[in-house]
Amino acid sequence: MPSARNTMYAVQVSRAGGPLEMVTRPIPEPAAGEVRVRVEACSICHSDAMAKEGGASSYPRIPGHEIIGRVEKCGTGVVGWTAGQRVGIGWYGGHCGVCERCRRGDFILCARAEVTGLTRDGGYAEYLVVSAQALAAVPDALSSREAAPLLCAGITTFNALRNSGASPGDVVAILGLGGLGHLGVQFASKMGFRTVAIARGADKATFARQLGAEQYIDSAAVDPGLALTELGGARVILATVTASEAMSAVIGGLGHRGLLLIVGASPEPIEVSPLQLIRNRLSVTGWPSGSAIDSEDTLRFSAHFGVRPMIERYPLDRAAEAYDRMMSGEARFRVVLETGA
Ligand SMILES: NC(=O)c1ccc[n+]([C@@H]2O[C@H](COP(=O)([O-])OP(=O)(O)OC[C@H]3O[C@@H](n4cnc5c(N)ncnc54)[C@H](OP(=O)(O)O)[C@@H]3O)[C@@H](O)[C@H]2O)c1
Ligand SMILES: [Zn+2]
Repeated sequence: MPSARNTMYAVQVSRAGGPLEMVTRPIPEPAAGEVRVRVEACSICHSDAMAKEGGASSYPRIPGHEIIGRVEKCGTGVVGWTAGQRVGIGWYGGHCGVCERCRRGDFILCARAEVTGLTRDGGYAEYLVVSAQALAAVPDALSSREAAPLLCAGITTFNALRNSGASPGDVVAILGLGGLGHLGVQFASKMGFRTVAIARGADKATFARQLGAEQYIDSAAVDPGLALTELGGARVILATVTASEAMSAVIGGLGHRGLLLIVGASPEPIEVSPLQLIRNRLSVTGWPSGSAIDSEDTLRFSAHFGVRPMIERYPLDRAAEAYDRMMSGEARFRVVLETGA
């Protein structure tokens, strides 16, 4: 570690498509309305591929938007947060408050939103500076390493499910058992839905049941749409996979007024026929994660109901290896970088 503590270690992408590299950077200073956070844990989301492959506003960029740390210094005008407090930070990095989307309360889609790890440096570092708007309080019951994945994988699935219109007892399917999916199964089960997990291969069946799934469908062995129909048809299918074709393959498993709720971010089109939509009054929609108060709700729910990620732990200086592990699809189920500043 550097001896003079005006510098920090960080892992950055120097150019679009470039590698993740460990560098030394000045410790950032918070401006008015901002705080400096000392990072304790930052997990790696599949969406970090956007920062790595060219989706950031500029380079070099430090990725990472599943962050837990402690407030170290508050800029002028920050109220409600104090040094030493443990906080979480997700995608949402603050909103403008004046654009039409903000005025309608859709802060996560603010036209001038700060996006952690894309428009501002994120959590693959010892420190970061964020808008105080972006902070979520973290319950003591959660360790930093188990709380970190809740800041994106958690909030996205929790928030999508709680706004899905499904009621306790409804059949809700979670498509994909990765970082998002394995939390989605837990949330769906704890929310009282009859939870069905759909993934490729028989090896994930035991995991799925341990996480709370009542049924497991191996989409490599059977037609997942047909299998869901045999279970009565789903009220909601939460699609967490990265492949559009896997989403198209389950639409036939939606029941009356069923909803395909998409969080997996694929650029490819999905395929659905108008007749499929008309026959059962189906809907297809997408869901972006949520803002800081949604993160707090996710963290509180998880602490109370025992929702916890399954994680693999890496030190910050092995971030490149940890990222490759996440991309390989072999991680069970979230890779977490731990930072000892
Ligand atoms: N909407 C939002 O706000 C939001 C927030 C966070 C993440 N995301 C997006 O959500 C997606 C999942 O992220 P993650 O971090 O959970 O990724 P992950 O841990 O890498 O999991 C990816 C999942 O996709 C499945 N998959 C990949 N290719 C597939 C295929 N051809 N057929 C069926 N399944 C396939 C994988 O299944 P196997 O294990 O069988 O390979 C795995 O379950 C990403 O697209 C990410 O960018 C969106
Ligand atoms: Zn994410």
